[in-house]
Amino acid sequence: MTATSSIAQRYTLLGIETSCDETAASVVRGHPDGTREILSNVVLSQLDAHRPYGGVVPEIAARAHVEQLDGIIAAAMAEAALDWSALDAVAATAGPGLIAGVMVGLVTGKAIAAARNLPLLAINHLEGHALSPRLSAEVAFPYLLLLVSGGHCQLLIVRGVGAYERLGTTLDDAIGEAFDKTAKMLDLPYPGGPSVEAAARTGNAGRFDLPRPMVGRDNCDFSFSGLKTAVLHTLGRLETVTDQDAADIAAAFQAAVCDVLADRTAKAIALFRAAHEDISPQLVIAGGVAANRAIAGALSDLCAETGVALTVPPLKLCTDNGAMIAWAGIERFALGLTDPLDVAPRARWPLAQSPN
Ligand code: KG4
Ligand code: ZN
Repeated sequence: MTATSSIAQRYTLLGIETSCDETAASVVRGHPDGTREILSNVVLSQLDAHRPYGGVVPEIAARAHVEQLDGIIAAAMAEAALDWSALDAVAATAGPGLIAGVMVGLVTGKAIAAARNLPLLAINHLEGHALSPRLSAEVAFPYLLLLVSGGHCQLLIVRGVGAYERLGTTLDDAIGEAFDKTAKMLDLPYPGGPSVEAAARTGNAGRFDLPRPMVGRDNCDFSFSGLKTAVLHTLGRLETVTDQDAADIAAAFQAAVCDVLADRTAKAIALFRAAHEDISPQLVIAGGVAANRAIAGALSDLCAETGVALTVPPLKLCTDNGAMIAWAGIERFALGLTDPLDVAPRARWPLAQSPN
């Protein structure tokens, strides 16, 4: 795998990710000639542990991280077939996320750094997502990033490492959360995103008319709570809810989300073009919701219409993983950045504030 790089020497980093319900560790190596190697990428999803509750339970997540992380790191090192002495630094997610889980990963990263006398990189999880496309493809700065996950829905201009301009964000629910809550209302299994997408495949999107919140607004913000309420009201008007009713509502919901994303992203493309007139825009999609085929299709159509290059990293790098944390660590380490061992975990940590 190659991409243009500013890395002066070969760096091998361990990356640790525990900010939500994935316990993940990975070893990534970056070479000065631009080659990147994912030597291991071990992700343990806690889906089964949270399924009975229909959502992520922070205490269960934290306990699972404590129980599993050592083994996951050992597996990542074994799969990379490396000794600890081969590492140049350790990178761990330091926020934002569920604080007890973040603490488990960060403390473990600190312990390894202290025991092996390695530098520590405390990574913002959102920076991990933001830089992840550069791990698998040739993506040069600046680019436009649409981050669509269970915790976030944001449009950003990524100008360089540490240089992020947030163009818009959600005013209420994250997009994945909206999928998950809609699935719950429709009695579809957890996790909701894939269930809604599957149900929508057999549904008629035109049967119910759902709102497109924020469409046409002169900014890049999102809102999904009105759409969620509209789903609830639509359900309330039905006497009984058949599988076909649920499929039709799922299809209508997904169609509304696609329209909203395409409209907001079109606005962001216009802003990017205004800020970087000489650069042909490139759109990158990251986050678990990027797995949705209808959404990817809508954004691909938009990019084709507007002459924008589209990059969707492989799904394993779109959802939460340790490789994106190791990679963000390499990008920062290559610039001479490291963090002290007393760096604090953060539940909230905006990657970039709005310019105003
Ligand atoms: O990025 P991610 O793995 O974890 C974080 O939230 O950081 O994203 C998980 C979210 C969940 O809300 C899940 O329902 C959603 O991504 N998701 C999907 C699909 N697959 C996963 N949403 C819509 N369509 C999908 N196919
Ligand atoms: Zn994430």
